Amino acid sequence: MDRIRLVGGNELNGEIAISGAKNAALPLMIASLLSDEPLVLHNVPRLADVKQLERILENHGVDIAVHGRRRGEEEGVGQRMTFHAADIVDTTAPYDLVSKMRASFWVIGPLLARCHEARVSLPGGCAIGTRPVDLFLYGLKELGAEIDIDEGYVVARAPKGGLVGATVTFPKVSVGATHTILMAATLARGITVIENAAQEPEITNVAECLVAMGAKISGIGTRTLTVEGVEKLHGATVEVIPDRIETGTFAMAAAMTGGDVLLKGARPEHLQSALDVLARTGTTLTSEANGLRVHRNGNGIRPVDVDTDPFPGFPTDLQAQFMALMTMSDGVSQIRETIFENRYMHVAELARFGADISVNGQVATITGKPQLKGAQVMATDLRASVSLVIAGLAAKGETVVNRIYHLDRGFERLEDKLSRCGAEIERLAG
Ligand code: EPZ
Repeated sequence: MDRIRLVGGNELNGEIAISGAKNAALPLMIASLLSDEPLVLHNVPRLADVKQLERILENHGVDIAVHGRRRGEEEGVGQRMTFHAADIVDTTAPYDLVSKMRASFWVIGPLLARCHEARVSLPGGCAIGTRPVDLFLYGLKELGAEIDIDEGYVVARAPKGGLVGATVTFPKVSVGATHTILMAATLARGITVIENAAQEPEITNVAECLVAMGAKISGIGTRTLTVEGVEKLHGATVEVIPDRIETGTFAMAAAMTGGDVLLKGARPEHLQSALDVLARTGTTLTSEANGLRVHRNGNGIRPVDVDTDPFPGFPTDLQAQFMALMTMSDGVSQIRETIFENRYMHVAELARFGADISVNGQVATITGKPQLKGAQVMATDLRASVSLVIAGLAAKGETVVNRIYHLDRGFERLEDKLSRCGAEIERLAG
């Protein structure tokens, strides 16, 4: 299994091109199931999760093509891909494919809307929490679906003539359930109102894609989405937004090591709450025409308390990285994780660097130290793994991060991007 070796202590200086957002690319790919015409996506990141979803979509009959780089286009630019679901040949998403990636459960929305039936394996729990699917099932039932659980599968059937528009009021904000009901509603008969919808930029990216495919959606970017169902959707060409979590991750890395980094293509408005928090730590952030500049000189890192929240709040997907930064702050800070009940697995690993963190329920208390020391570490999820890389960049001496397949699920060319900015980082094969 590949590992990453790094020697900490170098400042980060230079430019990093931000890749397309994993969490937008995945639902955009799934949206291709809604039409028998091709959906062309630009700026798709090269990630293990994208590859895994390709396998799942191919199993449903989607033809997938990756196009070559255009003349003059920079190396490292995201992929241009076509997803063509001319015929859905199978409405079952099997356990061995769905269990590897939770987002693949979301195919249930478009399959049910277009084919009036779907059989999708329950995704199960995962390292960061139990992650139930009750909100999905509630929403689909409101649209008229009949749902049974059979041998670990959700078996869903639409009424004769297809799903029917309805008001879906989520008791809790869910990104995945919002994506799924939004997609399902585009082909339902009549009007669907989704209340307490997630407002993440990735939802907006998908909603705008659906509109480009002929869907009628209003309230995009707000807590209430209204969808007037249409008979058919057509093909479209859509760009994947830049990854706000990758942006925040590199911003926190630069805040921790010190230095000056331009995050090219970043959209600051997609992570304003995280940038506000970083500014309070003493990091200077400047919006520039082609991205976001992050700068910190030799001054100390000020401690800041943070609660994770749905967008526009501080993202749970940046919690681990921010905790890494706080381990070297000049005082005591607290983080409250409100989205997932078990998203503190990085705490024990950060302790290997000498970090002082205690957890009591949802709240982690971090007492900053002037210096971390490199260590052998591993993590059990994507964002936790990258928090260990950030800690390693600032720690004294050598760090080896094991089990980096988690990183490959969500970070494109991580070690290349960091080493171009002066980090001593390499991948060890095997
Ligand atoms: C999305 O997951 C992201 N994944 C996650 O990123 C992210 O952490 C999360 O949203 C929150 O922002 C993708 O976009 C592919 P949720 P999702 O449904 O949709 C509970 C990463 O590292 N819930 O918004 O699965 C759930 O347990 C990943 O890139 C129910 O109770 O998250 C959680 O407590 C990890 N019932 C809360 O809602 C349900 O039916 C929010 O989860 C569904 C969710």
